[in-house]
Amino acid sequence: MKDPKLRVLISAGQIQARIRELGEQISRDYPDGTLQMICILKGACFFMADLSRAMTRDVLVDFMGISSYGKGKTTSGEVKVTKDLDVSLENSDVLIVEDIVDSGVTLTYLVNLLEQRRPKSVRIAAMLDKPERRLREVKVAYVGFRIPDEFVVGYGLDYGERYRNLDDICVLDGA
Ligand code: IMP
Ligand code: MG
Repeated sequence: MKDPKLRVLISAGQIQARIRELGEQISRDYPDGTLQMICILKGACFFMADLSRAMTRDVLVDFMGISSYGKGKTTSGEVKVTKDLDVSLENSDVLIVEDIVDSGVTLTYLVNLLEQRRPKSVRIAAMLDKPERRLREVKVAYVGFRIPDEFVVGYGLDYGERYRNLDDICVLDGA
């Protein structure tokens, strides 16, 4: 996709290489038991598809819709569940798969919510982390890339629902 507002920050090749490493690392960290991956819609679905296939152990996948953002670039501070899980988490190791950790508001809410469902453990895997923007402290066990405070799109990330299908992660200038 040619668009003068887009500048590649992380290429598709870099993304895939990092995901292979993460898949191996996470698989080593969970040698046995049920590993329930939870994809946070919609942004994380590309990361989920690639990360789950980079795992060298059996996993279960499910999806959850949650939103803390309006149509623009800043958080509304409001979190709501738009689609809940189909599965019980009791006694499972849970891996939340998220596209990006920004303020941390969404994940703080989500971890609290899921911990009430009595899982064995809950950890987070995020493709991107923007640590400068944090408002709530949240422990992210697995991070693809730490990035500076710039608004990015592609590989699942959107601006007003556009650009999710880019292979690369790009900075969106002047939107
Ligand atoms: P948080 O609650 O502020 O951590 O927000 C996390 C959510 O905000 C992510 O799941 C994204 O949907 C969205 N988000 C944060 N930063 C960006 C960005 O740079 N590009 C696109 N979406 C973003
Ligand atoms: Mg999201």
